Amino acid sequence: MIPTLTAPDSSLALLREGYAFISRRCDRLGTDAFRTRLMLRPAVCVRGAEAARVRSVELTSPEDSAVAAIAGHRGDDGELLDLPVAGVELLNLIRPVAAVSRFGVLAALTLLRHPRWRDAFAAGEDEDLRAFVLEVRRFFPFFPLVAGRVREPFTWQEQRFGTGDRVYLDLYGTDHDARSWTDPEVFDPERFRGWQRDPWTLIAQGAGGYAENHRCPDEPMTEWLLEDVVRLLTRSVRYAVGVQDFGISLNRLPTLPADGFVVSHVRPVPGTAAA
Ligand code: HEM
Repeated sequence: MIPTLTAPDSSLALLREGYAFISRRCDRLGTDAFRTRLMLRPAVCVRGAEAARVRSVELTSPEDSAVAAIAGHRGDDGELLDLPVAGVELLNLIRPVAAVSRFGVLAALTLLRHPRWRDAFAAGEDEDLRAFVLEVRRFFPFFPLVAGRVREPFTWQEQRFGTGDRVYLDLYGTDHDARSWTDPEVFDPERFRGWQRDPWTLIAQGAGGYAENHRCPDEPMTEWLLEDVVRLLTRSVRYAVGVQDFGISLNRLPTLPADGFVVSHVRPVPGTAAA
């Protein structure tokens, strides 16, 4: 029988203790395996030669998992993917979540600064969720600017742009341009109620359209993921946030609060997805 740690979640302990995290607990419990929760999900930690053999030889991935789909995928030639290609494909699934997690931290900070929104979402309000997420993407710095070279000469605002000239488009500045946004330095999701998706004003992930220009094709996924993050943070877990430096530097790319966003006493809300 594998013992279970008493702490509701061990993510912070793992980050704090690093390499010693599993061994320390195994020594303490007199076991080679224990159950805990990491990132709020049930996890089993194991060590030793026997565990290594079981994990490498006998462990299989659930049929409906991403690992199983990629490992079992056959190309047009009927062959399985090469190992490096399969590895890259797996990373391609992880990378988007890692990128969007930065916005997730900024959303968490916003929920702390604006309890009105936290309370509304905690109470099950979904109507303004998309507006909230759009405002997080508009308000915070992420990609500062995009660069390009002129392909065909043109004139704009009496300035001649010649072939090969380098041009930088200010994304953050456009998202905070008072000609497009009322009180741009105020965090106000209500500005996005009924918004008609102007492709040239909210350009945190590029301008124009996905199909015809270079707008980030991941943008819809970013919004879905962030909605899930907000639901999770407000409905499925409770946590404490201590005193720390939430300052956001405008010359750190991509940016985060100075101390990150350190939470403690994380507990799942019974009866929710995190429980
Ligand atoms: C939330 C984090 C992200 C931000 C802030 C972001 C931002 C951007 C920006 C500003 C552009 C436009 C570049 C330009 O106009 O030259 C862009 C393009 C692009 N992004 Fe993202 N992105 C993010 C996440 C992702 C992720 C996770 C993926 C992949 C799954 C992705 C894939 C792409 C691709 C393929 C393009 C190029 C599109 C094209 O040239 O047609 N992005 N992104």
